[in-house]
Amino acid sequence: MIVLRSQREIEKIRSACLIVSEVLQRLRERVLPGVTTWELNLLSESLAEKRKAKPAFKGYHGYPFALCTSVNEEVVHGMPSKKRHLKEGDIISIDFGVVYDGYYGDAAMTLPVGRIDEEARRLCAVTEESLYEGIRQAVVGNRLSDISHAIQDYVEKRHYTVVREFVGHGIGQQLHESPQIPNYGPPGKGVKLKEGMVFAIEPMINQGGPEVEILGDQWTAVTSDRKLSAHFEHTIAITRNGPDILTRHGSLGVFGQPSGACNRDNQRLAH
Ligand code: MF3
Ligand code: CO
Repeated sequence: MIVLRSQREIEKIRSACLIVSEVLQRLRERVLPGVTTWELNLLSESLAEKRKAKPAFKGYHGYPFALCTSVNEEVVHGMPSKKRHLKEGDIISIDFGVVYDGYYGDAAMTLPVGRIDEEARRLCAVTEESLYEGIRQAVVGNRLSDISHAIQDYVEKRHYTVVREFVGHGIGQQLHESPQIPNYGPPGKGVKLKEGMVFAIEPMINQGGPEVEILGDQWTAVTSDRKLSAHFEHTIAITRNGPDILTRHGSLGVFGQPSGACNRDNQRLAH
């Protein structure tokens, strides 16, 4: 069952999402050569605490950290470590969620560590843009798989591949609610999108093949060919005026200005 959220509930989800965005922005400033993923995790915890929000991932199915830090060939669910020092040229996905006043927010971004090469930059830029291509389809009257298809189409035209094993999700009073939102598929399938649906859309895009495997820690997903992977995520609400991005990270995208990626400026995202 997909819950339709009232305006009041959406504002509560927005409060959680704004904390998530603020934390990601603060972490972004600390993504530098030499910094450990452990430090990023500690910072995410202390910033959440300051906002009286509870990290959503810690303890979720036994996940031991507040933050997921996925470096280079790591796709998602990379675990912070005291031994993992970021180095110039790495890319890192930071994925964070909180629960605040009973409602969840969830977002992720992939960031460059210092200067990165052109191929890595392009993978990240295409992944970020594919998220906005998906969000653009999150309008009343469309069907769920229109989001999925838009992401896949955008990505594959640029010769990257879509990870199949992880998907976006409904979000609200739980971190993961119905529906699952694959980042691939034919258009025009699945439920009709309605005002009040709240989704976390999160494409995971690979430089090489789409296959992934899970490391011995039981969490870290890596590309099977060990080529790079990137990940961006926003929590959005479907409104009569188009998609409302609840986890806005400032007004600019990370890898350039995504097409119409501006909160409360929904007309630019709607058709
Ligand atoms: N953004 C990810 C998701 O929605 C992060 C979950 S990590 C977990 O699935 F530990 F909480 F599973
Ligand atoms: Co998510």
